[in-house]
Amino acid sequence: MKTIQAKMHNSISWAIFTGLAALFLFQGVPVRSGDATFPKAMDNVTVRQGESATLRCTVDNRVTRVAWLNRSTILYAGNDKWCLDPRVVLLTNTKTQYSIEIQNVDVYDEGPYTCSVQTDNHPKTSRVHLIVQVSPKIIEISSDISINEGSNISLTCIATGRPEPTVTWRHISPTAVGFMSEDEYLEIQGITRAQSGDYECSASNDVAAPVVRRVKVTVNYPPYISEAKSTGVAVGQKGTLQCEASAVPSAEFQWYKDDKRLVGGQKRVKVENRPFLSKLIFFNVSEHDYGNYTCVASNNLGHTNASITLFAPGAVSEVNNGTSRRAGCIWLLPLLILHLLLKF
Ligand SMILES: *[C@@H]1O[C@H](CO)[C@@H](O)[C@H](O)[C@H]1NC(C)=O
Ligand SMILES: *[C@@H]1O[C@H](CO)[C@@H](O)[C@H](O)[C@H]1NC(C)=O
Ligand SMILES: *[C@@H]1O[C@H](CO)[C@@H](O)[C@H](O)[C@H]1NC(C)=O
Ligand SMILES: *[C@@H]1O[C@H](CO)[C@@H](O)[C@H](O)[C@H]1NC(C)=O
Ligand SMILES: *[C@@H]1O[C@H](CO)[C@@H](O)[C@H](O)[C@H]1NC(C)=O
Ligand SMILES: *[C@@H]1O[C@H](CO)[C@@H](O)[C@H](O)[C@H]1NC(C)=O
Ligand SMILES: *[C@@H]1O[C@H](CO)[C@@H](O)[C@H](O)[C@H]1NC(C)=O
Repeated sequence: MKTIQAKMHNSISWAIFTGLAALFLFQGVPVRSGDATFPKAMDNVTVRQGESATLRCTVDNRVTRVAWLNRSTILYAGNDKWCLDPRVVLLTNTKTQYSIEIQNVDVYDEGPYTCSVQTDNHPKTSRVHLIVQVSPKIIEISSDISINEGSNISLTCIATGRPEPTVTWRHISPTAVGFMSEDEYLEIQGITRAQSGDYECSASNDVAAPVVRRVKVTVNYPPYISEAKSTGVAVGQKGTLQCEASAVPSAEFQWYKDDKRLVGGQKRVKVENRPFLSKLIFFNVSEHDYGNYTCVASNNLGHTNASITLFAPGAVSEVNNGTSRRAGCIWLLPLLILHLLLKF
């Protein structure tokens, strides 16, 4: 009975002591560094969220009492657990070391922890700061958008993490200029068709690999005919008139001869459409096919047209091109002979 009472008394005074020690700490009473051989706690302890943190305190055989505190709350005093948190466990309590482990660390565990010891009836404390790191995470990002050329856009990318992650926006395109914005927000005024494509938001804080998410920006614009070349085809030959247009959404094409619309799938003429290209194919050109044709490209933002001519091929260009080609062959002949000679 007497021993139990004494033990209780001891515990209570110890609690008061450790409590006071913590109080001193909070009032900014510094740990004397002159005779800091013990208690010796580590420097700051840095762990990632979800990992375990080990808090070590080096002691010697003059030490009579030991405790670990979280702020002013006693976690362990000697072998006795004072807190209810099941994540806190005693690792070692020997003549040289007194350490505890905090499992599955979370951000609210961050803060000062104190190792409190009693040597020759003198209390001493040593503090270690637990730092909890959290990998970056993108919690909010703009969805893919489709807008008309000339509009203003604003993309948002919100990330969390510890330390606070750095957020950058980058335009992914073969001709991209690299980083666009070192900010959570990317604003583009008067967007151009060249600025369409994927935009990548990256959040990094050195705790883990950066996290990356992409937003697709589609810039719509009316058709623009980039190529429509007149063609010379002889009677009886196969001939093709070609019209190329860029547009978003992609253009639909129509062909006219004078005012008459040409529909594909006829016996003599066929219209072949691809997203950026339309071909008017004549299987067997006849005299009355010659003339002006109009290619009309349209999408929901507008339409444009170009006129091209199917004509009977002129003699001049044929002769010139033919001569140069023949000249090339003459030069090739000695080379061919040389090659044959070397082989044997
Ligand atoms: C320990 O962490 C505290 C709080 O973050 C900081 O003020 C101090 O400089 C750190 N000390 C060392 C040695 O890193
Ligand atoms: C430490 O104290 C803080 C603040 O009271 C608390 O939220 C946290 O759970 C404590 N952590 C441990 C491991 O005791
Ligand atoms: C785009 O932003 C500029 C500058 O803030 C403004 O003057 C313009 O009216 C905006 N355009 C549209 C289409 O909202
Ligand atoms: C092309 O048309 C002409 C006249 O209609 C015909 O004589 C000729 O056989 C045709 N050629 C081919 C390859 O169909
Ligand atoms: C075709 O167009 C050209 C120039 O646009 C014009 O000079 C020519 O007279 C036209 N031909 C026909 C048959 O309409
Ligand atoms: C081609 O465009 C001109 C003006 O841009 C317009 O007057 C004409 O009607 C158009 N032709 C066709 C076939 O749409
Ligand atoms: C030779 O033919 C090419 C296309 O095959 C053409 O672009 C060029 O203008 C022609 N040369 C001459 C001198 O007409």
